Amino acid sequence: MPTPRDVKSFIRTIPDFPQPGIMFRDVTTLFQDARGFRMAIDQLLHPYAGIRIDKVAGLEARGFILGGAVAHQLSVGFVPIRKKGKLPARTIEQAYALEYGEAVMEVHDDAIQPGDRVLLVDDLLATGGTAEAGVRLIEQLGGEVASTAFIIELPELGGRKRLEALGLDVHALCAFEGH
Ligand code: PRP
Ligand code: MG
Repeated sequence: MPTPRDVKSFIRTIPDFPQPGIMFRDVTTLFQDARGFRMAIDQLLHPYAGIRIDKVAGLEARGFILGGAVAHQLSVGFVPIRKKGKLPARTIEQAYALEYGEAVMEVHDDAIQPGDRVLLVDDLLATGGTAEAGVRLIEQLGGEVASTAFIIELPELGGRKRLEALGLDVHALCAFEGH
Protein backbone atom coordinates (compact mmCIF):
# COMPACT_ATOMS: atom_id res chain seq x y z
CA MET A 1 0.00 0.00 0.00
CA PRO A 2 1.44 3.38 -0.91
CA THR A 3 1.73 5.83 1.98
CA PRO A 4 -1.07 8.42 1.85
CA ARG A 5 0.36 11.75 0.77
CA ASP A 6 -0.54 15.07 2.33
CA VAL A 7 -1.41 18.15 0.28
CA LYS A 8 2.02 19.70 0.84
CA SER A 9 3.81 16.74 -0.72
CA PHE A 10 2.05 17.41 -4.07
CA ILE A 11 3.42 20.96 -4.31
CA ARG A 12 6.54 21.39 -6.44
CA THR A 13 9.21 23.97 -5.58
CA ILE A 14 11.05 25.73 -8.40
CA PRO A 15 14.12 27.61 -7.16
CA ASP A 16 14.95 31.02 -8.65
CA PHE A 17 11.58 31.56 -10.39
CA PRO A 18 10.47 34.13 -11.52
CA GLN A 19 13.69 35.72 -10.32
CA PRO A 20 16.87 34.68 -8.49
CA GLY A 21 16.34 33.99 -4.79
CA ILE A 22 12.59 33.21 -5.06
CA MET A 23 11.43 29.68 -4.28
CA PHE A 24 8.29 29.34 -6.40
CA ARG A 25 5.66 27.05 -4.85
CA ASP A 26 4.01 25.43 -7.86
CA VAL A 27 0.49 24.13 -7.24
CA THR A 28 0.01 22.79 -10.78
CA THR A 29 1.43 19.46 -9.58
CA LEU A 30 -1.26 19.40 -6.89
CA PHE A 31 -4.05 20.42 -9.28
CA GLN A 32 -3.11 17.86 -11.95
CA ASP A 33 -3.26 14.92 -9.55
CA ALA A 34 -6.75 13.46 -9.10
CA ARG A 35 -6.26 12.55 -5.44
CA GLY A 36 -4.27 15.67 -4.67
CA PHE A 37 -6.84 18.06 -6.11
CA ARG A 38 -9.76 16.36 -4.40
CA MET A 39 -7.87 16.28 -1.10
CA ALA A 40 -7.09 19.99 -1.38
CA ILE A 41 -10.72 20.95 -2.12
CA ASP A 42 -12.02 18.70 0.68
CA GLN A 43 -9.57 20.18 3.17
CA LEU A 44 -10.30 23.74 2.08
CA LEU A 45 -13.98 23.08 2.76
CA HIS A 46 -13.54 21.21 6.00
CA PRO A 47 -13.93 24.12 8.48
CA TYR A 48 -17.08 25.39 6.80
CA ALA A 49 -19.47 22.51 7.37
CA GLY A 50 -22.53 24.02 9.01
CA ILE A 51 -21.33 27.60 8.47
CA ARG A 52 -23.46 29.96 6.38
CA ILE A 53 -21.68 30.93 3.17
CA ASP A 54 -23.61 32.70 0.42
CA LYS A 55 -20.83 33.10 -2.17
CA VAL A 56 -17.27 32.11 -2.91
CA ALA A 57 -14.92 34.78 -4.27
CA GLY A 58 -11.69 33.72 -6.00
CA LEU A 59 -8.62 35.84 -6.64
CA GLU A 60 -7.17 35.75 -10.16
CA ALA A 61 -5.69 33.51 -11.31
CA ARG A 62 -5.21 30.33 -9.30
CA GLY A 63 -7.97 31.31 -6.89
CA PHE A 64 -10.40 30.74 -9.78
CA ILE A 65 -9.47 27.06 -10.07
CA LEU A 66 -9.95 26.47 -6.36
CA GLY A 67 -12.87 28.81 -5.85
CA GLY A 68 -14.93 27.27 -8.65
CA ALA A 69 -14.58 23.80 -7.17
CA VAL A 70 -15.31 25.03 -3.64
CA ALA A 71 -18.40 26.98 -4.79
CA HIS A 72 -19.70 23.94 -6.66
CA GLN A 73 -19.31 21.78 -3.57
CA LEU A 74 -21.09 24.36 -1.37
CA SER A 75 -23.80 24.86 -4.02
CA VAL A 76 -23.27 28.63 -3.99
CA GLY A 77 -22.28 31.12 -6.66
CA PHE A 78 -18.73 32.06 -7.62
CA VAL A 79 -17.42 35.63 -7.94
CA PRO A 80 -14.17 36.36 -9.81
CA ILE A 81 -11.97 39.12 -8.43
CA ARG A 82 -9.83 40.08 -11.42
CA LYS A 83 -6.87 42.17 -12.35
CA LYS A 84 -7.89 45.56 -13.72
CA GLY A 85 -9.30 45.75 -17.23
CA LYS A 86 -10.66 42.21 -17.59
CA LEU A 87 -14.23 42.49 -16.30
CA PRO A 88 -16.75 43.81 -18.83
CA ALA A 89 -19.51 45.42 -16.72
CA ARG A 90 -19.36 48.15 -14.09
CA THR A 91 -16.71 47.48 -11.44
CA ILE A 92 -15.24 48.83 -8.25
CA GLU A 93 -11.48 48.67 -7.84
CA GLN A 94 -8.85 48.39 -5.16
CA ALA A 95 -5.12 49.03 -5.46
CA TYR A 96 -2.64 46.82 -3.62
CA ALA A 97 1.13 46.67 -3.26
CA LEU A 98 3.31 44.22 -5.15
CA GLU A 99 6.93 43.52 -4.36
CA TYR A 100 7.80 46.20 -6.91
CA GLY A 101 5.05 48.73 -7.56
CA GLU A 102 1.30 48.47 -7.39
CA ALA A 103 -1.53 46.56 -9.02
CA VAL A 104 -5.31 46.93 -9.08
CA MET A 105 -8.03 44.31 -8.54
CA GLU A 106 -11.64 44.71 -9.63
CA VAL A 107 -15.01 43.10 -9.03
CA HIS A 108 -18.36 43.68 -10.72
CA ASP A 109 -20.39 46.02 -8.55
CA ASP A 110 -23.44 43.72 -8.67
CA ALA A 111 -21.50 40.53 -7.83
CA ILE A 112 -22.14 40.64 -4.09
CA GLN A 113 -25.27 41.80 -2.29
CA PRO A 114 -25.23 43.59 1.07
CA GLY A 115 -25.22 41.02 3.87
CA ASP A 116 -23.76 38.22 1.72
CA ARG A 117 -21.34 36.05 3.66
CA VAL A 118 -18.42 35.46 1.32
CA LEU A 119 -15.61 32.90 1.48
CA LEU A 120 -12.45 34.34 -0.13
CA VAL A 121 -10.17 31.75 -1.76
CA ASP A 122 -6.67 31.88 -3.24
CA ASP A 123 -3.77 29.48 -3.70
CA LEU A 124 -1.17 31.34 -1.64
CA LEU A 125 -1.00 33.81 1.25
CA ALA A 126 2.32 35.70 1.25
CA THR A 127 2.23 39.35 2.41
CA GLY A 128 -1.56 39.30 2.36
CA GLY A 129 -1.75 42.34 0.08
CA THR A 130 -3.74 40.55 -2.62
CA ALA A 131 -6.13 38.98 -0.12
CA GLU A 132 -6.63 42.29 1.69
CA ALA A 133 -7.55 43.93 -1.63
CA GLY A 134 -10.15 41.18 -2.12
CA VAL A 135 -11.49 41.70 1.38
CA ARG A 136 -11.85 45.43 0.81
CA LEU A 137 -13.74 44.88 -2.44
CA ILE A 138 -16.15 42.43 -0.80
CA GLU A 139 -16.70 44.80 2.13
CA GLN A 140 -17.20 47.82 -0.17
CA LEU A 141 -20.15 45.99 -1.71
CA GLY A 142 -21.60 45.33 1.74
CA GLY A 143 -20.51 41.71 1.94
CA GLU A 144 -19.08 40.10 5.02
CA VAL A 145 -15.95 37.94 4.70
CA ALA A 146 -16.98 34.69 6.38
CA SER A 147 -13.40 33.37 6.15
CA THR A 148 -10.32 33.30 3.96
CA ALA A 149 -8.90 30.01 2.67
CA PHE A 150 -5.56 29.17 1.03
CA ILE A 151 -3.59 26.11 0.04
CA ILE A 152 -0.26 27.61 1.15
CA GLU A 153 0.83 30.26 3.62
CA LEU A 154 4.30 31.77 3.89
CA PRO A 155 4.41 32.74 7.58
CA GLU A 156 7.60 34.81 7.27
CA LEU A 157 5.80 37.26 4.99
CA GLY A 158 3.16 38.05 7.58
CA GLY A 159 -0.06 37.56 5.61
CA ARG A 160 -1.86 35.65 8.35
CA LYS A 161 -1.08 38.31 10.96
CA ARG A 162 -2.22 41.03 8.56
CA LEU A 163 -5.57 39.38 7.89
CA GLU A 164 -6.11 38.38 11.52
CA ALA A 165 -5.45 41.99 12.53
CA LEU A 166 -8.43 42.88 10.35
CA GLY A 167 -10.51 40.45 12.40
CA LEU A 168 -10.54 37.81 9.67
CA ASP A 169 -10.41 34.06 9.98
CA VAL A 170 -7.49 32.47 8.04
CA HIS A 171 -7.49 28.82 6.96
CA ALA A 172 -4.34 27.49 5.22
CA LEU A 173 -3.59 23.86 4.43
CA CYS A 174 0.19 24.04 4.71
CA ALA A 175 3.09 26.40 5.31
CA PHE A 176 6.52 26.82 3.74
CA GLU A 177 9.45 28.52 5.48
CA GLY A 178 11.90 30.29 3.18
CA HIS A 179 10.67 32.06 0.09
C1 PRP B 1 0.42 35.24 -6.15
C2 PRP B 1 -0.46 34.26 -5.42
C3 PRP B 1 -1.38 35.13 -4.61
C4 PRP B 1 -0.48 36.34 -4.30
C5 PRP B 1 -0.01 36.30 -2.87
O1 PRP B 1 -0.30 35.76 -7.24
O2 PRP B 1 -1.21 33.46 -6.35
O3 PRP B 1 -2.51 35.56 -5.34
O4 PRP B 1 0.66 36.26 -5.18
O5 PRP B 1 0.87 37.35 -2.59
P1 PRP B 1 0.59 38.39 -1.45
O6 PRP B 1 -0.01 37.67 -0.27
O7 PRP B 1 1.96 38.94 -1.11
O8 PRP B 1 -0.32 39.45 -2.00
P2 PRP B 1 0.36 36.61 -8.39
O9 PRP B 1 0.36 38.06 -7.97
O10 PRP B 1 1.68 36.01 -8.71
O11 PRP B 1 -0.64 36.50 -9.60
P3 PRP B 1 -1.32 35.21 -10.32
O12 PRP B 1 -2.06 34.42 -9.28
O13 PRP B 1 -2.26 35.81 -11.32
O14 PRP B 1 -0.22 34.43 -10.97
MG1 MG C 1 -2.41 34.93 -7.36
